Amino acid sequence: MSAPLSDALVLFGATGDLAAKKIYPALQQMVRRGHLDIPVISIARGGWDIERFRTHVRTCLEKIDGFDEAVFARLSGLLRFVDGDYDDAGTFRRLCDALGAAQRPLFYLAIPPSMFPTVVHSLGKLPCAVSSRVVVEKPFGRSLVSAMELNQTLRKVFDESAIFRIDHYLGKEPVQNLLFFRFANSFLEPIWNRNYVESVQITMAEAFGVETRGRLYEEVGAIRDVVQNHLLQVVANLAMEPPIGDGSEPLRDEKVKVFRAIRPLTGRSLVRGQYRGYRAEADVVPDSRVETYAAMQIHLDSWRWQGVPFFIRAGKHLPVTATEVVVSLRRPPQQVFPELVPLQGNYLRFRLGPRQIAIAIGARVKRHGTENVGDEIELLVCNTQDDEMEAYERLLGDALKGDATLFGRQDGIEAAWRIVDPILDKRTPVRDYEPGTWGPAEADAMIGEFGGWRNPQASG
Ligand code: BG6
Repeated sequence: MSAPLSDALVLFGATGDLAAKKIYPALQQMVRRGHLDIPVISIARGGWDIERFRTHVRTCLEKIDGFDEAVFARLSGLLRFVDGDYDDAGTFRRLCDALGAAQRPLFYLAIPPSMFPTVVHSLGKLPCAVSSRVVVEKPFGRSLVSAMELNQTLRKVFDESAIFRIDHYLGKEPVQNLLFFRFANSFLEPIWNRNYVESVQITMAEAFGVETRGRLYEEVGAIRDVVQNHLLQVVANLAMEPPIGDGSEPLRDEKVKVFRAIRPLTGRSLVRGQYRGYRAEADVVPDSRVETYAAMQIHLDSWRWQGVPFFIRAGKHLPVTATEVVVSLRRPPQQVFPELVPLQGNYLRFRLGPRQIAIAIGARVKRHGTENVGDEIELLVCNTQDDEMEAYERLLGDALKGDATLFGRQDGIEAAWRIVDPILDKRTPVRDYEPGTWGPAEADAMIGEFGGWRNPQASG
């Protein structure tokens, strides 16, 4: 039996950066596809009214490709605005009025975590709280302990099945395709284990800095921002066992097992870096030790992956913007043909975006001619979809339907924090790197014996 649809969307943090860049574009797309026809009630402080708010949404949407006047007019008709402070009971009375007959609203908390207890407490007093749902943005907490506290706060009002912990990587088409590719084909399974896989590496490179998010970044750093969530989720999709049965829970059960199998990290398997110029960014302290780059090696204590190192790195101001996975296979047991360069193992490369999605197999073929020597080639399948559903659109739609498959579950979130908790204390030195380079040289040493990092190219 499918869960009932939410009948209103209530957005806290309506004037913030996330709403501007991700949520309004997602809402516009949902309206365009005919997937959204419920009231969208936005709440923010600052003395705005509905007209000022509509202008704000329009301005945000005009900055992105694909602004559509007719679609905006329809979206605009769904918008409502409640002005007020989150710690003022009057704000929630006005919210109640704005909700009117709605029985099952979806509350989206795109606000600083420090505001959660106040807002959640007030939501609990609304008559519709019992059948409502809540979406909470990542990072969910700042550590294992704070994630547990945050959960307690939410659970005072919401049932676990009504809590949607968003990690937009889970809504990305190529991240889902990792699972699909693994479990919808039979050729991969025999080699997808410690007997054939030598190492796995995941790179999340961004060619830009922290931009206007200095304050937030100072609180999080790269490990909390993208490793604890996005990149560990990618590891889970690569490493998990096939779920037994359908629905959201068997899949989430298998992911939790992966997180539990990963050994907690230590400073010895970590390199932290900071791009030169970060300390001069707005809202960043001049002696900041926050990392804008992190590289680490993780181990999974599981039957399938024992002894196979997984290398992860993420950084701002690297040479390109691209997220990529490379699964390196072991070398052939014997060198049958003479080779000009040392024989490498094959590899599978998954390009996870942005925009370009690709799957490639690195192989050796005979070079054309009389000699029996080989060349390294890539069998490449590349896909760029014009009308691809963005992660936020997909996830918002799922949350409105009550489908939790692509959202974090509390036990998984806690298991993921347990992995990174020991390295959050900033005791590991933070190494400088030049913007536009591949990060501190120390990170190369960590992976040297496994053939080094494969740097994603600007395209494909
Ligand atoms: C966010 C991080 O979760 O993901 C950002 O906070 C990062 O720092 C962003 O830039 C990357 O996501 P995407 O979808 O733009 O690649």
